[in-house]
Amino acid sequence: MRSKIIATGRYIPERLVTNEDLSNMFDTSDEWIKDRTGIEQRYYIKDEMGASDMAFNACENVFNEGIVKREDIDFIIFATLSPDHTFPGSGCFLQGKLGLADVPSMDIRNQCTGFLYSLRMGDLLIKSGDYKRVLIAGAEVHSTGLDFSNNGRDVTVLFGDGAGVVVLGPCEDNEGGFLSFALHSDGTHAKDLWLDCPGSRYTPSRINKTMIDEGRHFPKMNGRRVFSHAVKKMPEVLMEALESSGTDLKELDLIVPHQANKRINEKFAEMLGISFGKVYSNIERYGNTTAASIPIALDELRRQGRLKKGDMIGLVAFGSGFTWAASIVKWV
Ligand code: UT7
Repeated sequence: MRSKIIATGRYIPERLVTNEDLSNMFDTSDEWIKDRTGIEQRYYIKDEMGASDMAFNACENVFNEGIVKREDIDFIIFATLSPDHTFPGSGCFLQGKLGLADVPSMDIRNQCTGFLYSLRMGDLLIKSGDYKRVLIAGAEVHSTGLDFSNNGRDVTVLFGDGAGVVVLGPCEDNEGGFLSFALHSDGTHAKDLWLDCPGSRYTPSRINKTMIDEGRHFPKMNGRRVFSHAVKKMPEVLMEALESSGTDLKELDLIVPHQANKRINEKFAEMLGISFGKVYSNIERYGNTTAASIPIALDELRRQGRLKKGDMIGLVAFGSGFTWAASIVKWV
C-alpha cells in the first residue's frame, strides 16, 4: 500500500522584512541579495512565537478546510532545526496545543531535508498499516537566532520564518501517491553549515560568555562548499528517485525543490537539462524557511489549483549535515 498527501496548510508570520530593511541593519544591499540568492523579502515573527505555534496555525489552516478532522490524526512528526526549546521536541508542544492527548509525536532534526526525511518516515508508518492519518509539520523560527551584524551577513540574508503542514493517508487504490524516496547524508561536512553552541559536549557549561562574544551561538556556513555540493547532489538524488520509481525525467510535470537559493535551483535545472519553468520557485517572497519550504510550496500550489490528479511531481532538497533527499509523487 502506498501513502499519499491528503491535506496541506501553511502559516507565514506577519512581519515583512525586505532586503532594504536588512541593508539598514548591516552592510548589504538589495542588489547583492537578489543577485546572489534571488531573495527579495522574507517574513519574521512579530512577537514571541515558537515553531510549534506557527505549526499550530498551519494545522488550523488544514482543519478549517474540512478535508481532515483534527481527531483523526494518529501520529505527529515535526521537522525543525529551530525547536521551541531544546527539549521536549516541538512535536510534543504541537500535540498538546492541538489537544490530541495520547497521540504519538516526535521531532526530526534534519535541517533543509527534514521535511523529506519526515515524509519518508510518515510513508513507512502508513505502509505499516498501524497509522492512517500522519500529520507532518515543517516549521522554523530563524529570525531569533541570526547574527544581524556584518559578521553574519552571508547567512542572515538567506533565512525566513514560516510553517507548512501536510497530512498523509493510505492510497488504497495504489493509483498514485509516493512512488519512491532516496535519502542520503555525509557527516564529514557537518561543520560546513552548523550551529556550534550551546553544545552538550562542552564542559562545564554548554555556553559561556566567551562563546557568545565569539558569536558561536550563531549559525556558520561555508557558503561556497554548500553551493557546490548542492548543485551536484540534488540532480543525482532526483535521478536516483526517478529510477527507483521507473519514471523518466521527461514525465515530471513539476519539480518542487527546497528553497535555499534561486541560483542553486537554476543550476540544478541546468544540470538536468530542463527548463527552470518546470522548477517551482517562491524563495523571492519567503527566503529559505528550511524544513518548511517544501510544505509551504505544496500548499501554495495546491490552493492555486496547480497540482492536478495524475501530475508527476519531484521533491528534492539539500542542506546541513550534509543531507540530501528526493521523492517522486503521483498526485491523486
Ligand atoms: O539550505 C542550505 C542553505 N545554504 C545555502 O544554500 C547557501 C549556499 N551558498 C550560497 O548561497 C552562496 O555561497 C552565498 C549566497 C551565501 C554567498 O554567495 P557567494 O557568491 O558564494 O559569495 P562569497 O561568500 O564568495 O562572498 C563574496 C563577497 C565577499 O566579499 P569579498 O571578500 O569579495 O570582498 C563577502 O564578504 O560577498 C560578501 N558578502 C556579502 N556582501 C553583501 C557576503 N555576504 C554578503 C551580504 N551582502 N549579505
